[in-house]
Formats: sequence, structure tokens, C-alpha cells
Amino acid sequence: MSSALIQTKSYPTWNSRWVFIMAATGSAVGLGNIWKFPYITGENGGGAFVLVYLVCILLLGIPVMVAEVMLGRRGRQSPVATMRQLTNEAGLHGFWNSIGWLGVVAGLFILSYYSVIAGWALAYIPEMGRGTFQGAGAAETQLFFDTLLADKGRLLAWQSLFMLMTVAVVACGVVKGLGVAVRILMPLLFVLLLAMLVFAYRHGDFAAAAEFLFRPDFSALTGRSVLEALGHSFFTLSLGMGAIMAYGAYMPADTSIGKTVLTVAFLDTLVALMAGMAIFPIVFANPSIHPGAGPELLFVSLPVAFGAMPGGLLVGMMFFILITIAAWSSAISLIEPGVAWLIERRGFNRFTANISLGFIAWALGLGTVLSFNDWSGFTLGGFTFFGAMDFLTSRIMLPLTGLFIAIFVGWVLPQMTAKSELNGEGSRFYPLWLWVLRYICPPAIGVVLLVGLYDTFAAVS
Ligand code: PHE
Repeated sequence: MSSALIQTKSYPTWNSRWVFIMAATGSAVGLGNIWKFPYITGENGGGAFVLVYLVCILLLGIPVMVAEVMLGRRGRQSPVATMRQLTNEAGLHGFWNSIGWLGVVAGLFILSYYSVIAGWALAYIPEMGRGTFQGAGAAETQLFFDTLLADKGRLLAWQSLFMLMTVAVVACGVVKGLGVAVRILMPLLFVLLLAMLVFAYRHGDFAAAAEFLFRPDFSALTGRSVLEALGHSFFTLSLGMGAIMAYGAYMPADTSIGKTVLTVAFLDTLVALMAGMAIFPIVFANPSIHPGAGPELLFVSLPVAFGAMPGGLLVGMMFFILITIAAWSSAISLIEPGVAWLIERRGFNRFTANISLGFIAWALGLGTVLSFNDWSGFTLGGFTFFGAMDFLTSRIMLPLTGLFIAIFVGWVLPQMTAKSELNGEGSRFYPLWLWVLRYICPPAIGVVLLVGLYDTFAAVS
């Protein structure tokens, strides 16, 4: 639809709040919701972890997301240029520009390993369809997974395919590429997830899953689980790397930021919980599968279940298509801030900007590919290349940028700036938001960051 674009001065905006909501939800909903959330919930004992996670979304995720969208819409440029403009306007120190930079770098780092894991999901689609897992036991699916990870050529092929898919959409631009893609992908994802839920309800142990996810057992909760929940609330909402800020730049001026952010956070949380309720009933119905299996939960455990159930292979195929779609719309947002910046400031066209950054992330991803085979013995402080990338981004870089954003918007930026963007939100919204952003977010995020840094030093030394 050509009317999806309204040209305001030099910057395009999406013509409706729904395109923004779908784009932001597309970014937020990804491997974080469908792969990571279920397995870290399993590792951290279930209900109590889910509760802490929900509190983190509400108290940290939502306020920081409002701040990011507000900055993006205010600047109407790439995150790097937006930060530069806002600091210049207010006569602030250039240090704050690092918010934009850190984001571009974090995005490329995340994309580098994200595309490898999304490649696993891609690899499983034809295998499901071909019946590889028909009647397979846990030992066989484990063998399949290990064989896949040991084969760098295959990993590379699937990672490259996923990267091409990402670059192709971004190359088509914000309106035709991103706008159209999310409008097709997001509803499809919801339909597939609903189908999965129905399947899990009919063939799995739904009651056991509900009890596991929603009955908090606080004895299972450790300090580390709380930190993990906190870190994950940033990752899952795509905060702290400029993705949401970049999308905020395309948001129509008269749209309510508060309501929109609440909708996105709600949808993201809904998908994570739906994914949990689609996966755990199957896990609990199969005694050989353990909820705390870790990152393999999805790739080793579930195929056993799919292979054993009537119609399971078809549903399994659907499931891995669903994961691919979710990862795809997130990957798009990981690369967009850097692309927008290269176009604005370095005179690249969208195509070359996109190819260049895609290439960098792809090349970096080779480290992750190799960390599962040739380099698996090569670790730094217990981290493989992949582990280090994951830790560096989700436990250090995202919280660091999130912290900077909370301090910058809460304490440094002239209050009029935020106030004028948020004045349509009702009289109680602004003071409440500002208070949380000033007094709750910095100390809470600061603790996650400090423990993350401490862990890094402890591991390296
Ligand atoms: N939010 C995405 C997920 O849950 C990951 C992501 C992080 C995407 C940061 C963009 C920016 O999978």
C-alpha cells in the first residue's frame, strides 16, 4: 500500500500506529521469546522466575522503552544522529553520543550469533518435513543436533541463508521492506502459535505446564535468577541497542507513546507465555525430557515429542517456521540502526549500507559457527566465542546502554523535551514515568551491570 508512507519534511513515517506496533513487536518477539524464555524459565525453576520477569518488564522494560521511542521520535534520524542532535541542542557533553554508537555495535554483535541460531531453526524445517524425527528417541535427536553443530559447512550455509533473508528485507526499505514484512509476518506468527497451543492442549500435559509456569515456588529462586530475569527483560523488548529508537523515528507525531509501548510490551509478554504454554505441556508429557535442559530444550527435546505424536511432524515443521519468522523480524531491527546511520551520514545508499553491515555481522558470525566445532576447545574464561558474544551483549552492552538512556532522559536531558513528546498521555503518566526512570531504573540496571562486569573479571582472571 503506497499510503503507508507519509512524507514529513525529510523523514518518512509510517502512516498508522499499527505499523509501528507491528514493527516494534516484530523486533521484540524473537528467539528471546520462543527459544530463550522457555529454557531459562526451565533452568530457573518456573513460576517465581516468571513473576520476577513480569515485574522487570513492568518496572524497567516499559519505562526505558518509552524513553527510547521518545528519543527516536524526537530526533527522527538514526539513533547515532538523533543522540548527536539532542546533545547538541541541549549543549550536553558528547559522551552521550555513545548511546547511539554502542547500539549500532551491539546490534551487529547480536545479529552475528542470532543468525547462527536462527539458522538451526531453518535447518530443522526440512528435516521435520522429511520425517527425520519420526519415532526418534532423545538419544537420536541429540545425535542429530550434535551432528548439525559439528558440521560447520551446514551451519554456515543456514546462517548465510538467514542473513540473506534479513538483508533482502532491509534492502527494500522501511516502508516496502519493513512495513510490509511485519504486516504479513506478525499475524502469521500469532496464528501458528495459537495452533501450537491447541496442539499442546490436546496432546500434552497442560495442567502440569500451567502449574510450573504460574505457581511461584520462591525456594527455586536465586539472586542469579533475578539478574537473569532482569537482563532478559531488556533483550526480549529489544532495548538498549537503538532498534526501538530507530523505529520510534518512523512513528507518527500524534500517536500516544505510552499506549503504544504498553501494547508492544503486552504482546511480547503474551508471546513468551504462549510459547511457554506450547512447549512445557509437551515437555511434561514426556518423562525423558527435562524442563531444565538449557539451550537444547527446543532443538533436542521437542523433536522427540513431535516425532512421537500423531501429526507431530507437520506441527513440528510449523513450529520451526514460526521460530524463523520471529527471528527474522527481530534480525531486521538489529541491522536497521546501522543502515540508517550509514545512509544519513556516510552517503551510502540503502543497498550498499545494508550489504556492508550484513557482511560484517555474517563474518563475525563465523566465530559463533566455529565455536560449536573447530573452536569449541578454545575458550576465554570458560566462554566459547558464542558464549562470550552472548554475555557481552545481553549482560554488558544492552544494560549499559539502557542505563545511559535512563540517566540521560531522567536526569540530563531538559525535561521539556520529554514532556512535549509525552504531553498527550494524561496528567498522571509523565510524573510517574519520570519517577520510575530516575529512581528505580538506574540502580536496578546498575546492579545487573556490575554483577555482569564482576563475572567477566572473575571468569577472565
Ligand atoms: N528482542 C529480540 C528477541 O527477543 C532480540 C533483539 C534484541 C532484537 C535487541 C533487537 C534488539 O529475540
